[in-house]
Amino acid sequence: MKTLVTGVAGFIGSHVANHLLKNGHEVVGLDNLSGGFVRNVPTGVQFVRGSICDQGLVEALFEENRIEAVLHLAAYAAEGLSHFIKRYNYETNLGGSVNLLTAAVNHDVKIFTFTSSIAVYGAGQVPMTEDMRPEPEDPYGISKFAFEMELEATRRIFGLPYVIFRPHNVYGEGQNIADRYRNVVGIFMRQALEGKPMSVFGDGRQTRAFSHIDDVAPIIARSIDLPDCWNQIFNVGADQPHEVLEIAEQVSKALGIEKKIQHLEPRQEVIHTYADHSKVRRYFGEPMGVTLEDGIRRMAEWVKQRGIPAATPAPPVEIPRNLPPSWTRPE
Ligand SMILES: NC(=O)c1ccc[n+]([C@@H]2O[C@H](COP(=O)([O-])OP(=O)(O)OC[C@H]3O[C@@H](n4cnc5c(N)ncnc54)[C@H](O)[C@@H]3O)[C@@H](O)[C@H]2O)c1
Repeated sequence: MKTLVTGVAGFIGSHVANHLLKNGHEVVGLDNLSGGFVRNVPTGVQFVRGSICDQGLVEALFEENRIEAVLHLAAYAAEGLSHFIKRYNYETNLGGSVNLLTAAVNHDVKIFTFTSSIAVYGAGQVPMTEDMRPEPEDPYGISKFAFEMELEATRRIFGLPYVIFRPHNVYGEGQNIADRYRNVVGIFMRQALEGKPMSVFGDGRQTRAFSHIDDVAPIIARSIDLPDCWNQIFNVGADQPHEVLEIAEQVSKALGIEKKIQHLEPRQEVIHTYADHSKVRRYFGEPMGVTLEDGIRRMAEWVKQRGIPAATPAPPVEIPRNLPPSWTRPE
């Protein structure tokens, strides 16, 4: 199929594009490079630099290419920051997504795969299962859930099938480690390499099921070839929760740098969270099951080769009130 991958210069999008090419598909890739890098884009992808928020560009892209499948991964995914950049969050994560969906309907796309997030569940019970009623608590999660509902409405009215994935805490080779607002594994790696202490919010005993990219990207890519999984929602990622303190331990071990930690004031966040993956296993089989130690070692090797990229400028804060104090100070 001729596919469109948005966010193709980003972390997960570039891996998904790679798997699509391996699976024999053509890939047109769209990214505005606000958080991604051209060097991430796999050879063989027809790369277009531009924004999903640019309705004219999106329309022209569908007009000029006979796109059959959309895999939509472009987003600004800083969940904690999203309270303070509401407009930017909704314009990108919801408005841009609707541009793609509109063009997909008008150009008879066969399947629309969307990378949502575990953030849609909010602070509810664990383990999170797909049949729970989502109660997102921040603008990032709200925009993801709104677009999930939009996909279902579009299926009902226009018959466009979808697949929704809800990944969580994905890390690995290709990830941007230069954004101070997101992805704890990458932040710790950058801080350690710069000789700084790793900044831990609160006591560091909060747990997350950190998921290596190889347990996530191949599944997202295969979704367009498996009509049985269409019009379904899937959690995707690792089962085993780990403490943030353990991440600091593994990062220093993998980089061969002595562990230094700075505890910051706790922020408002869920303490323990993990998702149930029995459904995704039923449809897609067993994932590779990369262990935390192996995954962090692989990412550290990649980071050592690539070095630290220049800091990605984050969108300007729209509401400065109640920003976590550590975010108001230079690092
Ligand atoms: N990494 C995770 O742990 C995780 C967890 C759950 C969901 N997700 C979702 O997976 C997707 C990919 O996340 P990622 O971790 O690869 O992030 P990423 O930042 O590495 O990739 C996102 C890409 O989207 C691009 N982008 C942003 N705004 C754009 C716009 N307006 N137009 C075009 N391109 C734009 C960025 O330049 C970047 O290359 C996102 O939708 C994210 O919400 C990620």
